[in-house]
Amino acid sequence: MSDIPTIEFTITNDNLDTGLRGYPVGTCETSYVDPQEGVSYVGYPIADLAFLPAEDIIHLLFNKSLPTDAERQAVADDIAERSEVSEDAVASISALPAAGHPMDQFCAAIQILGMTGKTDDYYEDSLNLVARIPTALAAIFRKREGWGPPIPSEPSRGYVNNFVHMLGMPGGDEEALTRLLSVYYNLHADHGGGNLSTFTGRAVASGLADMYRSMASGMNALAGPRHGMANQDAFKMVKEVDTEDPEAAYEALKERLASGGLIFGFGHAVLRQEDPRAKVQLGIGEELCPDDHWFKVVKAVREGGIRALSENPKVSNPYPNVDLISGSLVNALGFTDPDYYTTLFGWSRIAGIGAQIVDERTRARNGRGVAIYRPRYIPVNQPARSLSS
Ligand code: MLT
Repeated sequence: MSDIPTIEFTITNDNLDTGLRGYPVGTCETSYVDPQEGVSYVGYPIADLAFLPAEDIIHLLFNKSLPTDAERQAVADDIAERSEVSEDAVASISALPAAGHPMDQFCAAIQILGMTGKTDDYYEDSLNLVARIPTALAAIFRKREGWGPPIPSEPSRGYVNNFVHMLGMPGGDEEALTRLLSVYYNLHADHGGGNLSTFTGRAVASGLADMYRSMASGMNALAGPRHGMANQDAFKMVKEVDTEDPEAAYEALKERLASGGLIFGFGHAVLRQEDPRAKVQLGIGEELCPDDHWFKVVKAVREGGIRALSENPKVSNPYPNVDLISGSLVNALGFTDPDYYTTLFGWSRIAGIGAQIVDERTRARNGRGVAIYRPRYIPVNQPARSLSS
């Protein structure tokens, strides 16, 4: 690890209780979020990477370079070799209570994969997890939806197409789903070091918890409505607005704001412009589902939402983020239950969080790894007391 730029950062009382917003706490080699330009992975703008095979993104995040043709094939072979999930693990995942939210099952599945195949090497375990999670997630969908028993993996199909194959969505258009989920995967794979799920995964790993425990913790963080679960809430909001007319969407969102309602899918902690991932999603929507009612509604909500939020001087970023459009796209291709949307985000983010944990544990501080996270909290409302007086 080299070339850490010199930074100056003054902490005052105003910084307390702000969720560490903007605090420099460490380094990140996989990605960076520029407030104006959005995310880049290892220096490449996300829009340039969106349509590459997922194998390229995995190589980029773990090796910090885009693969040659031979390296891409090596990634595919490596994933294939690592991808076997024991029957026991699939049976345990399929036996999880269906009553919970899919994210509960997703987090539990990560720990089950840990219980049944851990190496205790961060690098090995992160790539094993990348390779095995599609089988786990497909098993969750199939069990919950009653689509039948798990479908055997065929890793030679490629990473994303194999996931689509294992899902076996009744009536699903395999080609379109593979196209959409490839882009979806690339767009969601990483987002700088400070997003809550990545920060959580890194923090938990700093106590030397293994990759599976650290990743499950990160995924539980992703399951909050202010973070990854915003994608399901955004689509639910789009359904409530339900108009293809931008003017009517503007009125509906203005009213929602006035009555204290939350607007999902807009704004961001770091971004100050429209998220480039949202723009890519608009493009893929125009390609795959231009006539879909909910895609048209989402476009109206995008326009109306920017207008409604821009009128509030307190809103620093009135623009769409990654969560506004994704739901309408996957819905159009057959994922009609928004409760699953965060699991798709989680599937993709495993590569970014995994690569960052590997970097932090094995490369940071010249290979010594980052110390255990132990920030300071300032005591308040705790006057000295004594039981004896
Ligand atoms: C995202 O992908 O937008 C995030 O993980 C949220 C963030 O960057 O804080």
